[in-house]
Amino acid sequence: MNIHIYDDDRQIGLAAGCCICSQVIQKPNSVLGFATGSTPLKPYGVMIDLFKKGAVDFSKVITFNLDEYVNLDVADKNSYHTFMRENLFNHINIPPENINFLDGNADDLEAECKKYEDKIKAAGGIDIQLLGIGSNGHIAFNEPADIFPRASHVVKLKESTVNDNSRFFNSIDEVPTKAVTMGIGSIMQAKKIIIIALGEKKAKAIKQLISGEVTPECPASMLQFHPDVTLMLDRGAASLL
Ligand code: PGA
Repeated sequence: MNIHIYDDDRQIGLAAGCCICSQVIQKPNSVLGFATGSTPLKPYGVMIDLFKKGAVDFSKVITFNLDEYVNLDVADKNSYHTFMRENLFNHINIPPENINFLDGNADDLEAECKKYEDKIKAAGGIDIQLLGIGSNGHIAFNEPADIFPRASHVVKLKESTVNDNSRFFNSIDEVPTKAVTMGIGSIMQAKKIIIIALGEKKAKAIKQLISGEVTPECPASMLQFHPDVTLMLDRGAASLL
């Protein structure tokens, strides 16, 4: 595991954004795995900036997002579709047909998850997966549980996650309680993983991810077994190391 500790999220944004752009410069048809939340905002800003300056071309890139809420209109301001459009896709040149999301409004969510896994395989697997981490150690919406879920699946969100995400909604009652998410197995198959954590709130989960027991009670701990993980932490997230 490569562990980098930075002074602030601006430096992390530069580091992560440059890693992703460098991947695309070296392999223009890269398959990128994207995350939502506050954590990836700065890296996305750097990718947009480098694109606007002509340093990188995303026209051959294929993307897969980690997760999406169930039963939330994709046009809703809180859907992950909207988040990605507003914070990345509207500002760079990835062809819309190359952008993939799990469909949280599919009639048959199980079939949708299976289809998503097949699509990732058909694209040749994910070259770089960008990840945030929940304060409870979740990655994507893989919540603390008794097992590590292998493939994409439907999940009932933990109260702590609903609470964490309620800051984006008018009230906690509006926060969806179910989601569709890539599994830990899907994430582990990515060739490279960049995981970013900001703030003391993430410090316990980061400590466990790096040096704790590998247990589905901290889903991120499985990353100890991945051969190519880069952690980018601010001082708060690294405060227990
Ligand atoms: P955050 O969420 O980036 O908004 O902190 C990360 C996560 O829950 O995976």
